Amino acid sequence: MKELARHVMVDFVQMKQFVEDPLILSSGEGIRVTDVDGKRYIDGLSGTFCANLGHGNRVLAEAGARQLERLAMACPTLATNDRALELTQLLLEITPPQYTTVKLLSGGSEVTEAAIKMARQYHKQAGTPTKYKVLSHYRAYHGATGHALAAGGWPGWRAPYEPLPGGFIHLHTPDPYRPPFPGTPETVGETYARLVEEVIQLEGPETIAAFITEPILMSAGVVVPPRDYLPRIRALCDRYDIILIYDEIITGFGRAGALFAAELWDTWPDIFCLGKGMSGGYAPLSANVLTDRVAQAFWGEPEAMVQFHAGHTYGGNPVACAIGIAAIRQLLDQGIIDNARARGAQAQERLRAMQRWFPVIGDVRGEGLLVGVEFVQEPQTRQRFDATVNFGIRVREAARRRGLLLRASHWMVALAPPLTTSAAEMDEILDIFEQALAETLESLGQDIALPVARRG
Ligand SMILES: Cc1ncc(COP(=O)(O)O)c(C=O)c1O
Repeated sequence: MKELARHVMVDFVQMKQFVEDPLILSSGEGIRVTDVDGKRYIDGLSGTFCANLGHGNRVLAEAGARQLERLAMACPTLATNDRALELTQLLLEITPPQYTTVKLLSGGSEVTEAAIKMARQYHKQAGTPTKYKVLSHYRAYHGATGHALAAGGWPGWRAPYEPLPGGFIHLHTPDPYRPPFPGTPETVGETYARLVEEVIQLEGPETIAAFITEPILMSAGVVVPPRDYLPRIRALCDRYDIILIYDEIITGFGRAGALFAAELWDTWPDIFCLGKGMSGGYAPLSANVLTDRVAQAFWGEPEAMVQFHAGHTYGGNPVACAIGIAAIRQLLDQGIIDNARARGAQAQERLRAMQRWFPVIGDVRGEGLLVGVEFVQEPQTRQRFDATVNFGIRVREAARRRGLLLRASHWMVALAPPLTTSAAEMDEILDIFEQALAETLESLGQDIALPVARRG
């Protein structure tokens, strides 16, 4: 089977490198997955932030199987279906009352793409047609399709596909650990927001349609913005008539220790983008949830042609919706979000303790079970390792050898196991992480100057 791996393109990974030791998974149970050789791993990144309710989840499997026998496909251009409406009702029940309208789709990029289109179309139909520009952050990721990629802010992911669609303006990542200006934790959020307002003024508020952001910026390095940043952004969007879009594709459905990360700051968007954990990873499922104010611009007589002019074949698919309903009910009924908060706190406490003997851990941050660890070569100056050292990737590979899958870039790793992880399982994850980190430092010890302070 391994010979077949060379014929498959794996996301973001160089094929030649992948085939050297391909990870080919074949089954899963709870927080663990098993590869074709029978080796077991803890899924420390929940698929990719999706398998929030663990693998081998019988309730979700049965919800899908029952619906497959009942109705597997409903024509998305002529009809909706009972499961899609049930899911819509559930989404409107679990969001505040200003949200009245749902667009069901099947992937994360589909909903960020749709949200950007909706914001532009909204302004055309709401009497402000000169507004078309979209603000977003450098180092953000909002998906791989045209507009979603244009809103993303990592040069390496954008460059091969340029020129990208126009009208996208990037802002500094609101990173409290590395602000590019002097300040204190109390002032840093205000300064970032002031820079945003300056960009709005310079671009012309009459040209700006939308601001898209993740409440916690995973691809930027699990960046939790300063506490006052999102409330200030909400206020700017209100002042300048800008549609605020939250990409909660990762942070939604309990991942950040609340049903939606918007709750953490009690600061709410005009359009939500939801995906991944919405189905527990058991079906491709995503949704935009719109406030009534936005939705009203799409409500009119047929000849006015104000409907949303985009859709996708699998949007609102009845099987995906049936699984989504079962996943959201399980999340809410079994105290799983409380568990995510408790396990996240457990992880952060132990990782902070590790900082004492591993000063290479520059920062530990996150909310709920979305935890980031940033590595530094020099803790005082927060100097990063040279990219060629590939520090985070080495930690990831050492963890994989020990049976733990992690998300990593060269300067950090993210921990995001299923929200059902037990306290003992979290200890196991942290034990393996600690061993992997020690091995990485050991292996690099002779080559580079490391701030290694040994335990004890
Ligand atoms: C924050 C965020 N937005 C959007 C997307 C795109 O989702 P998808 O890969 O389902 O298209 C991702 C995917 O990882 C994501 O992390």
